[in-house]
Amino acid sequence: MSVHYTSLGIVNTRVMFAAAVRGGFAVPAYNFNNMEQLQAIIMACLETQSPVIIQVSKGARDYADRTLLSHMAHGAVEMMKREAGEKAIGEIPIVLHLDHGDSYELCVSCIESGFSSVMIDGSHLRYEENAALTRKVTDFAHLYDVTVEGELGVLAGVEDEVAAESHTYTRPEEVEDFVSQTGVDSLAISIGTSHGAYKFKAGQSPRIRLDILHEIERRIPGFPIVLHGSSSIPQDAVETINRYGGSLKDSVGIPEEQLREAARSAVCKINIDSDGRLIMTAKIREIFSRKPEEFDPRKYLGPARDALRAMYCRKNIDVLGSAGRAPEIMKAMKASAH
Ligand code: G3H
Ligand code: 13P
Ligand code: ZN
Repeated sequence: MSVHYTSLGIVNTRVMFAAAVRGGFAVPAYNFNNMEQLQAIIMACLETQSPVIIQVSKGARDYADRTLLSHMAHGAVEMMKREAGEKAIGEIPIVLHLDHGDSYELCVSCIESGFSSVMIDGSHLRYEENAALTRKVTDFAHLYDVTVEGELGVLAGVEDEVAAESHTYTRPEEVEDFVSQTGVDSLAISIGTSHGAYKFKAGQSPRIRLDILHEIERRIPGFPIVLHGSSSIPQDAVETINRYGGSLKDSVGIPEEQLREAARSAVCKINIDSDGRLIMTAKIREIFSRKPEEFDPRKYLGPARDALRAMYCRKNIDVLGSAGRAPEIMKAMKASAH
């Protein structure tokens, strides 16, 4: 049975992206696959009064079950409302987004199960095929006021190699045509970020191509831009993991100052997944090693959730600039509903 996202208390990205472009911040897009990650994201964003995009990959949907995931997102909205009431603070806007949708059918299925936003990732296709597939998805999504993210340019994404060299940067000369041909609501671009824990070799000084971003911004002023692969790979988490029996290779991520600079421009959604995975794993490994007698999952998942929550709070405040922005978005959404 099909469910529309509005009945779940979820919103699409339109108003929050307009606020982000105007206000020089980026909305956090955090991935989740389980209850503890979802709790950490929602509580951190409520505490910092940040808008938030909770996003689910195809793999996460298969892992956690598509029906359960939609109910979890609905439950998260209800929990946020109750907590806001109890703490006498404002509610925050929450988007449920499909991350890296790889087919029209998957996007439709997510829209029918309550997603308010979908990404159709045709970035590996030829330009015309990417544009046609993206157009097909927006035509369907917009019937239900679901917002759509498309992508131009290819990010390096091989998780077990340091593959930062294999990007295909977005070609600024293509963006205007792509946006008008497809009707997308936001555009993910490739400017040197990459997926996973191995982005750049230790000792390298990564520089994302803000010059390409600015050229894109010049060609489509005010249009919402998305950055994938934006984890910064916290070195203390990597060290903790390796100290307590892990074996991660040395690597560095995207410097947080560069993300902050990007967020001040047209970048209004920043995707972060790997940093959360590292923080959680570090805490769990530490507890397993320090307290080998422990076997109650709450005793290691609980502290991992707390560490995750602290990380999300810090990102919202120091990196994305999204902290404190929820009230103006809630106000703008109420005004646009009348
Ligand atoms: O960009 C990809 C996200 O980090 C999701 O990863 O496909 O392993 O769930 P996943
Ligand atoms: P990271 O692997 O850098 O966290 O990127 C996540 C992402 O882009 C999800 O779509
Ligand atoms: Zn991504």
